[in-house]
Amino acid sequence: MFSTPYVLSFSLLLSLPILFFFLAPHILPPRHSVPISLDDELDDLALFHRAAAQSSSSSPPNDPNRHFHLSSSKYPKLKIAFLFLTNSDLHFAPLWDQFFNGNPTDLYNIYVHADPAVNVTRPTSGVFKGRFIGAKRTFRASPTLISATRRLLATALLDDPANAYFTVLSQYCIPLHSFRYVYRSLFVSPTFDLTSFEYDPEAARLGVRLMYKSFIEILSKERILWKRYIARGRFAMKPEVTFQQFRVGSQFFTLTRRHAMLVIKDRVLWGKFKLPCYRDDECYPEEHYFPTLLSMADPDGCTKYTLTRVNWTGTVNGHPYTYKPAEVSTELIRQLRVSNYSESYLFARKFTPNCLEKLMGIAKSVIFKD
Ligand SMILES: *[C@@H]1O[C@H](CO)[C@@H](O)[C@H](O)[C@H]1NC(C)=O
Ligand SMILES: *[C@@H]1O[C@H](CO)[C@@H](O)[C@H](O)[C@H]1NC(C)=O
Ligand SMILES: *[C@@H]1O[C@H](CO)[C@@H](O)[C@H](O)[C@H]1NC(C)=O
Repeated sequence: MFSTPYVLSFSLLLSLPILFFFLAPHILPPRHSVPISLDDELDDLALFHRAAAQSSSSSPPNDPNRHFHLSSSKYPKLKIAFLFLTNSDLHFAPLWDQFFNGNPTDLYNIYVHADPAVNVTRPTSGVFKGRFIGAKRTFRASPTLISATRRLLATALLDDPANAYFTVLSQYCIPLHSFRYVYRSLFVSPTFDLTSFEYDPEAARLGVRLMYKSFIEILSKERILWKRYIARGRFAMKPEVTFQQFRVGSQFFTLTRRHAMLVIKDRVLWGKFKLPCYRDDECYPEEHYFPTLLSMADPDGCTKYTLTRVNWTGTVNGHPYTYKPAEVSTELIRQLRVSNYSESYLFARKFTPNCLEKLMGIAKSVIFKD
């Protein structure tokens, strides 16, 4: 017979590795995570507070519960806020200049968040001139990318109450259509969203849309999801985010004003997603935070697909396929536009910077001709 102390110490010994297995994600420091400093966090909070306070005192023009005429003089013209998140020069600035050129400036705004640790050339002319916002350091596969995006959203919310859609892009994104086409697709076209069942001929005749949705990819059946969920620590996300609620999607999306506000007001999920991962190789919080938050808060207000085409065939290291100059052609632009969910993709990524010349060559005749 075993003596009681023996059994006790044996079971203690046995339980140690088990305990360690369960606790490890909490007590082991992650390998090379980049924590967000308290100063940065407080700075951001102050900005988000200001944006939330200002906006709740002024009635947003795109309240989805209110039907309105685009031509009505009662509301300011609705704008698209283009939010560029970059850690290098804006390689395609001349193409974007041409995209915006000649369009009424009361239909859009531009904001750029450039990593301050990189010597990004600030354009001295063109649409990006003077559009750089207060920025902080960003690192790939880290919550700093979530912060940067929230900073862009908050700045745009504060800056102009007419900003109604918020489109996040990177320096590797290009437009696939003219500004006019993009604007009409988002605000006016009753047929653009192929997944919507809201089509109403009367609304179409009047040129109004009954409901404005966010174009954000929200995927729930991806094979990587479980790995990504436990990479954060076996129990790290509970109870706020269960595995069943965890989503993935592209960080390049177009949000309505209502959702932009929801995102900058969130504290609960941010408190979870800002924590460092247990496993860095499966840690891409920026691909999970936004789809998870919006799918929990307002799934019916989201189309669940993105307007930015990306080619994941032959992906290396989590980077999508990057097009080179030899591949840029009329045919490529046509292929990239084809979407299963909408009448067309509006943007695409990624392109190497030296694609600029060839893209400019087909800008007028192909890209902006629609
Ligand atoms: C940043 O780039 C500009 C223009 O290329 C250059 O003149 C300047 O010296 C650079 N600054 C740093 C700190 O590298
Ligand atoms: C996607 O990338 C692959 C290479 O990984 C290429 O063969 C294919 O043509 C690309 N698809 C499109 C639509 O460009
Ligand atoms: C559209 O759906 C088909 C069938 O599922 C798929 O093969 C194709 O890759 C999809 N196209 C895009 C652009 O996602």
